[in-house]
Amino acid sequence: MENLLSSWCSTVKSLPQNYVFPEDERPGKQIVPIFKNCPVIDLEKAVSGDRNNVIQQILQACQDSGFFQVINHRVCEDLIDDTMEIIKEFFNMPNEDKASLYSLDPHKSCRLYTSSFDYAREPIHLWRDSLKHPCHPLDKFVDLWPQKPSKYRDVVGKYTVEVRNLSLKLLEMICEGLKLKSGYFGDELTGIQMLTLNHYPPCPDPSLAMGISKHRDPNIITVLYQGNMCGLQVLKDGQWFMVETFPNAFVVNLGQQLKVISNGKFESAEHRAVTNSKEARYTIASFINPRNDAFIEPAKELLEKDDCCPLYRAFSYREFHDAFEEHRGEGEATLEVFKIKG
Ligand code: OGA
Ligand code: NI
Repeated sequence: MENLLSSWCSTVKSLPQNYVFPEDERPGKQIVPIFKNCPVIDLEKAVSGDRNNVIQQILQACQDSGFFQVINHRVCEDLIDDTMEIIKEFFNMPNEDKASLYSLDPHKSCRLYTSSFDYAREPIHLWRDSLKHPCHPLDKFVDLWPQKPSKYRDVVGKYTVEVRNLSLKLLEMICEGLKLKSGYFGDELTGIQMLTLNHYPPCPDPSLAMGISKHRDPNIITVLYQGNMCGLQVLKDGQWFMVETFPNAFVVNLGQQLKVISNGKFESAEHRAVTNSKEARYTIASFINPRNDAFIEPAKELLEKDDCCPLYRAFSYREFHDAFEEHRGEGEATLEVFKIKG
């Protein structure tokens, strides 16, 4: 518990050595340009205007970088604000209120931890504390969630349901755009939802530290809320770009399973989170994951339509996950395992 960043970080003036990343993995001092090519897609237009046009914008973004933002998504603004407030409140509670949730065991269902899933073995730690728990179906998991702040379960519960609905709507449009059979992204591919709340306290030296190191999300689709604090960066054509913040916008990014399903048509971009020295940053990440026994493969409809060969063999999500752990979270190396050589 004393490992939690928030319990000691305000007392240090310089970054401890075990938080200093090697030169080629840390942000350094250079200024990172804004990711101007990250599309901001107005989802209201899918209802009131030209749905097909919105679908085409989404598909284009999926192909270009697998990163985009959505506005007018119909997730209630007050709910988003309330959720962000509760999360700040949660991380700022005294340690004794959080102690029962803290664990070094990555398999604990609702878990408060610091840095990555493997604090004990990692050589360098990340400058973040996180709370992670399953969300869907809500009534199965809500009793595992924090009891304090008292409104946590109610507010965060509503938030996860609305963000899940948004994620499924986006997948439906992707399904339509790719001309897959309706309902392709059914329960098998989307039945698991995990929520991660991230707290990045002010850091004594953001040029040397990482909030989250470079990675690809291994799941289907991620919907992230970053409030009005920048820190998320995307790697595009070998250069890092900062993802802008917009009021009430969600950042959407594709996980590696969509890259496989789209037979490599879609990107699942590498991204990372950097810290800053002035103000704590909080983010809310909702991950839609396949079930462990889900069968993942390049969509047959797509292979036929485009008359091309599959780039990946079929696998179960469990298999992917095992390979992912074996490759210590290296997404590209993991995908190689399933690539058809030829
Ligand atoms: C993640 C992630 C970015 C952020 O949780 O997978 O990329 O800014 N988070 O918190
Ligand atoms: Ni991520």
